[in-house]
Amino acid sequence: MAAVIIYMSLHGCAEKAAVMLSKISWKEVDLVNLREHPPPDLGKYDTVIIGGSIHMETIQDKIKKFCNENEQELLGKRLGLYLCHIYEGESALIQFRNAYTKKLRDHAVAKGLFGGELNIEKMSPYEKSLMKKAGGVDKNISRINQQAIEGFGRVIFHLDKS
Ligand SMILES: Cc1cc2nc3c(=O)[nH]c(=O)nc-3n(C[C@H](O)[C@H](O)[C@H](O)COP(=O)(O)O)c2cc1C
Repeated sequence: MAAVIIYMSLHGCAEKAAVMLSKISWKEVDLVNLREHPPPDLGKYDTVIIGGSIHMETIQDKIKKFCNENEQELLGKRLGLYLCHIYEGESALIQFRNAYTKKLRDHAVAKGLFGGELNIEKMSPYEKSLMKKAGGVDKNISRINQQAIEGFGRVIFHLDKS
């Protein structure tokens, strides 16, 4: 059976994570960006990974909608859930809890807080003004947790057993 990563990404971090994850598997993994494509038919996949990123403390609406509309089917899959974010510690955990329902979190075999990036050149004027209000960002930040991505990949793709 096959695996799919269904994700959304504003400035490319959650997409980078999706690509990194797809390369960890020795099998082919489909990538579906919900911003550009409709949700795939889940019937042909036994492994489903869902990933999004946090802006203003919430995950993308389309990811939430997809999870809500497909919750029952997702509960029958080998499921992984991840987030890109810049807050750390308890704040990151709270954002994860708010992003995915308890049922999906309890069912997921892999849960990932992958960290994130702030790239000033990619921000709109509105986003820059939000950043300014939140204390200001004067240089790009890259805090992607590669170890977390690799660990998540090993679990979801059963690599520790091979
Ligand atoms: C306007 C804006 C608001 C953000 N708000 C949050 C936030 O509330 N919590 C958080 O952890 N990270 C926040 N971030 C950081 C993003 O989660 C981080 O940049 C992440 O890497 C974005 O991933 P993406 O490029 O895949 O969308 C924010 C970033 C921007 C640009």
